[in-house]
Amino acid sequence: MLWKTVLLLALADQVLALENGLLRTPPMGWLAWERFRCNIDCDADPKNCISEQLFMEMADRLAEDGWRDLGYTYLNIDDCWIGGRDANGYLVPDPKRFPNGIAFLADYAHSLGLQLGIYEDLGNFTCMGYPGTTLDKVLQDAQTFAKWKVDMLKLDGCFSTPEEQAKGYPMMAAALNATGRPIAFSCSWPAYEGGLPPKVNYSLLADICNLWRNYDDIQDSWSSVLSILDWFADNQDVLQPVAGPGHWNDPDMLLIGNFGLSFEQARAQMALWTVLAAPLFMSTDLRTISAQSVDILQNPLMIKINQDPLGIQGRRILKDKSSIEVFLRPLARDAYAVVFFSRRADMPYRFRSSLAQLGFSGSGVYEAQDVYTGGIISGLQAEANFTVIINPSGVVMWYLYPTGEPEGPQL
Ligand code: GLA
Repeated sequence: MLWKTVLLLALADQVLALENGLLRTPPMGWLAWERFRCNIDCDADPKNCISEQLFMEMADRLAEDGWRDLGYTYLNIDDCWIGGRDANGYLVPDPKRFPNGIAFLADYAHSLGLQLGIYEDLGNFTCMGYPGTTLDKVLQDAQTFAKWKVDMLKLDGCFSTPEEQAKGYPMMAAALNATGRPIAFSCSWPAYEGGLPPKVNYSLLADICNLWRNYDDIQDSWSSVLSILDWFADNQDVLQPVAGPGHWNDPDMLLIGNFGLSFEQARAQMALWTVLAAPLFMSTDLRTISAQSVDILQNPLMIKINQDPLGIQGRRILKDKSSIEVFLRPLARDAYAVVFFSRRADMPYRFRSSLAQLGFSGSGVYEAQDVYTGGIISGLQAEANFTVIINPSGVVMWYLYPTGEPEGPQL
């Protein structure tokens, strides 16, 4: 017991960076919470309750339906998996719902080329009231997750004080490092502190976490998407510079495939999350998802943009009085992602603009590929006007790339 306390204090004292080299691009995968919540009634609802079977079925879908090969490799457990602690204080999963244990699920995920994520909470309880990780349990729980061969930890922040969080998150980062197993670390800390400085120290977070939830939980509605988007755009001067390879802002899960978004809104969430360099965690039933939703989530150019190696988060660069907003994300090879987003509720809007209005200058010639339709718009120059037609609560998204210098005057 004593050596553990000594080690814990030593870890707490060190400012240790999370040197795991993981998540050089935003993580992609599947996370249980938004769609499956804390449904633990396996007697009444065996197909949808939080159980080993649910995760194995989603693992099969990820592996067999093209998701894994596009990069959706994380299979992440959220709240409500814990059964308790054993006589020695070790976490154990609910024995009825996870009869073979978490190591078995991790092996299963790995056998399919996937990675397993798990959830705990720094505090007395998880948000749904299951046993949490108190400060004296940080080291032990990190070792348990490593022993189970877990690949990502989401550490929530219910039922702890700001002081405990300020100690516990760095301590967990150090404890994960000390296991020797690369475990991506998702921190909910900033969401519990209002998401903004001075309470939130983003340079510290970038040192100890691979991603962090900044703001409210997403719910299955368009108003929820908008409130998150507004908060991210309104605070982009703080948030945009702190994201980069290995450390990402997380506006929360994708709703695509669920019940609250129209087709246009689903396309909009995908485009906006991509331009924000956000993690792409689906939270939907992959056993029954529609072909239309699959198309949105499996768009290869969208994924290429989300996973751009520069890892620069985009910004809202224009808020037009017509209720059109434009977001821009710089990409590798002098390319850009541009999202034209309509907040209108009347009819498809003809938005007239130019690259100059979006901040481009010089004589370069660009070509744009429409990310959803595949259409090509060529010969774009700074001063030339163009028109995009944007559906209500929808987007037009461009992959914009230079096509070389314009030809000089003909002699
Ligand atoms: C918090 C988190 C959610 C989810 C729930 C689980 O609200 O922000 O993402 O993990 O807890 O109880």
